[in-house]
Amino acid sequence: MPVIEGCRATHTTLEVANLERATRFYTEVMGLRTHQVLEKAGHLIDTRGVYAAYIEMARRGPQPFLNFYARVVPDARAVDAAHARIAAVKERYEIQELTAPAREDPSQFGVGTYGFYIKDADGNWWRVEENAGPFGPLEIPPGAEPRDAIVPAGPISYVTLECYNLDATMRFYREFLGIDVEPGAGRYFRSRGNGGVNLIVVQVGDQLVPQTVMNHHGITIWRDEQDIDALHTVAERVQAEYGIRKVMPATHQHGSYSFYMQDLDTNWWEIEVWEGHIDPWTRVEQNPYKAAAKAAAAIEQATATTAT
Ligand SMILES: [Fe+2]
Repeated sequence: MPVIEGCRATHTTLEVANLERATRFYTEVMGLRTHQVLEKAGHLIDTRGVYAAYIEMARRGPQPFLNFYARVVPDARAVDAAHARIAAVKERYEIQELTAPAREDPSQFGVGTYGFYIKDADGNWWRVEENAGPFGPLEIPPGAEPRDAIVPAGPISYVTLECYNLDATMRFYREFLGIDVEPGAGRYFRSRGNGGVNLIVVQVGDQLVPQTVMNHHGITIWRDEQDIDALHTVAERVQAEYGIRKVMPATHQHGSYSFYMQDLDTNWWEIEVWEGHIDPWTRVEQNPYKAAAKAAAAIEQATATTAT
């Protein structure tokens, strides 16, 4: 049995330089729904219900290419159409880089689709690709919101992460996080996050770019706050065994009770229960003001306690 049982990888986070500009880019270019949580934080959500919190930070950690988010369009023709439209608005959204459409080399990290990459104004990487990725074709629901985006509304098909060593990291994901792991045919493995965030984890050795807590991944359990405390105790006990770098105290966060931990690859995980088992996106939609106050406190706390 893994340390964490019955969890799902529910969310990710992104650091941004300017909240308003990031919101426009996610909504108008990347086809994701967004809402503002407070002055310096927002949420984006895809059509599968995978969400990300994005936070305006004066200082941001450099992002490696292999932390990209993939979005799908129906076919290669739609890839070319999206590319042409994004090229035309590159300056408006202050896009830093836009690569030419090409077929990806599947020996790199198991992706052999036709697509292109975007480095956005905040330095975060995205891929737009044909709907034939390593997790199979995903549903692109017709008529989903936002309706007039360049990349039609649909799923975030997967997110990539870096690791130092595949075997050690796969063991941590299987035995500690308790999420599904599928070894690839090269220096990568995949996880479906137990039905949540799809991941491709790529071994990069010493090229790895260390991560900050506001680039974390959320692991949600549907139990009680006491179960978080119990998991926190276990995390401290097995810290050396799994090369876990940091285990932060458990706190009440943005509508959740959780603790952050930094794994052997410097990637951060938030182990959480949602208050009333209501996800933060829905909580903000239901009650914007209350959620905003909680999010403000959580961000302040997380950035103060994990700053290095
Ligand atoms: Fe989080």
